[in-house]
Amino acid sequence: MSSNKNRHSIVEKNVGLLAILMVFGISLGALVEITPLIFQKQTTEPVEDLKPYTALQMEGRDLYIKEGCHVCHSQMIRPFRSETERYGHYSVAGESVWEHPFLWGSKRTGPDLARVGGRYSDEWHRVHLIDPREVVPESIMPGYPWLAENKLTGEYTAQKLRLFRDSFGVPYTDEQIANAKSDVEGKTELDALVAYLQSLGHAMK
Ligand code: HEC
Repeated sequence: MSSNKNRHSIVEKNVGLLAILMVFGISLGALVEITPLIFQKQTTEPVEDLKPYTALQMEGRDLYIKEGCHVCHSQMIRPFRSETERYGHYSVAGESVWEHPFLWGSKRTGPDLARVGGRYSDEWHRVHLIDPREVVPESIMPGYPWLAENKLTGEYTAQKLRLFRDSFGVPYTDEQIANAKSDVEGKTELDALVAYLQSLGHAMK
């Protein structure tokens, strides 16, 4: 009993040792939580209807990141009734297996967008992105009018699809990669972003 007590005081009086043991303890806890997920098919395989982003949607996704949309919008519906009634089925891991990086977000200044695809017309999105207050008068979302003017060159589009295929296993065909540039060239950034938004959540509709 008393020798136990002494051993504990060794740890308490030695900050370096205490820090090492704390890191060990926390790491072990994390491993116990994370390791099983790596082996569960449910978390590593795409849901049945998941389709890779088209070339245009892929460019739209990059614009979504570039313009910082993910700073105000999450793409992660939690399994709470208040969320599923508003946004639809809660998000599942199999929808995100081809997302690199994932855009779940951590803040909702605006609504969650995980299933916004199909909720509005393309035209609604175009008007809304150029000037949100045209369609939602009380909106505090900034407008992005330049998206309608900037044209895509498609210079890197094929490279992006190839990277997603070769590094992340997204099943793009050679044909899709070969056509990537011509699929987006001359379209506007607005076309791409709207195509991306309309694709969100399609696999669980
Ligand atoms: C400063 C925070 C902010 C940023 C940045 C932002 N939004 Fe929003 N967004 C909002 C707010 C607030 C709303 C709700 C009011 C509205 O509909 O305009 C909203 C609404 C939306 C909606 C409608 C969602 C729905 O279900 O009604 C879409 C789509 C959307 N934003 C897309 C985008 C995209 C794409 C970008 C990046 C180009 C973006 N937002 C950037 C705050 C933001």
